[in-house]
Amino acid sequence: MPTLDPAALLSARYGPGPSAVLSVPGRVNLIGEHIDYHLLPVLPIAIDRRIQIAFRRREDRRIRAASDVFGDREFDWTPRLQASPAGDWENYLKAAAMAVQQKWELRAGIDVAVVSDLPPAAGLSSSSALLTGITLALLRANGVDANFEELMQVLPEGEYFVGTRGGGMDHAAVLACRQDCALLIHFAPVSATPVPIPPDLAFLVAHSLTTAEKSGGARAEYNARRTAGSSGLRQLGFDSFAEALAQHSVGDLKAMAASRLRDPEQRCFRHVITESGRVTRAVEALEHGDGMTLGSILNASHVSLRDDLRISNADLDELVVAATASGALGARLTGAGFGGCAVILCRANELEKVRAGVVERYYARRSGFVPEVHLLAAKPCAGALYL
Ligand code: GLA
Repeated sequence: MPTLDPAALLSARYGPGPSAVLSVPGRVNLIGEHIDYHLLPVLPIAIDRRIQIAFRRREDRRIRAASDVFGDREFDWTPRLQASPAGDWENYLKAAAMAVQQKWELRAGIDVAVVSDLPPAAGLSSSSALLTGITLALLRANGVDANFEELMQVLPEGEYFVGTRGGGMDHAAVLACRQDCALLIHFAPVSATPVPIPPDLAFLVAHSLTTAEKSGGARAEYNARRTAGSSGLRQLGFDSFAEALAQHSVGDLKAMAASRLRDPEQRCFRHVITESGRVTRAVEALEHGDGMTLGSILNASHVSLRDDLRISNADLDELVVAATASGALGARLTGAGFGGCAVILCRANELEKVRAGVVERYYARRSGFVPEVHLLAAKPCAGALYL
């Protein structure tokens, strides 16, 4: 997908002059789904599709932003910003401005130009990448070189302005991933540890061609999963999942849930504790270069997301089956669910075979498939802080 040069777009819109450029990749979660908001570790990778932002400082408080796709916006950076209509990308600019002012007293506005080859609404975190990119641009234009921990204090919270109450996985991944590595992210306290991906393993990200409407019912469903997990935890008398898992084995916790919780609390609680164990085992499998084990862990995660958390759909289930039938080592839905993408693990030397198999078994029966948007080789790349 050809993209414009962001500095050229900035000059075309706002006049010639010096500018700085930064870039923020998308992300795909390998494992640890719907547990980041319970503050349990997750394991995503950043991918080689990105948002690029050219920016320059202004001497007033105006924020002006140009996008080749979404159009141009501008507003004054006042302490209290009113949300724009739902779905307007101006909300991401405002969310970034609000995130920054949670922690820093800054008010020099910026001119920015944004270009992207990261497909929007595809479960690849284009919205967190945009929020993160504008936040970094505002900070850097004001001379602030914020570190990972500081950014993680404001970014997940900042996203609430655009209406999502996710966890911190997406921001951590797009900031702190390293080339050829997955990132083991802990949240309490926040830390990020690279886990090298063995060179003989490769990932595909396949879009199911069904999309969860972030603003609609899917958001309510997402929040309902979060609430059910937390409520199950409280009913069993724990303050946090970390505490529960430190005091009891997964087997014991499952037994407690079976005898003392009803559904959906029982199912959601079970997903969280078993998924947490799968993250630990996935890290070990990567460290041992054991692709077969990693594949079976991904498959088990999909089953848990389908049957316990219940965030899959018939298309995602079929896509996962198509991937394994095509020779993948494992596959699972990735991201928030209710549509969106699956992540597929395969041997690097079988990537093209698996890709062709998925096209034949899944996409050939559907309309609207655009290979360079819907079926990507996800090469683990560096996040915005390490590019
Ligand atoms: C969305 C959220 C993340 C995470 C995933 C599910 O992508 O933004 O924080 O909760 O869903 O794992």
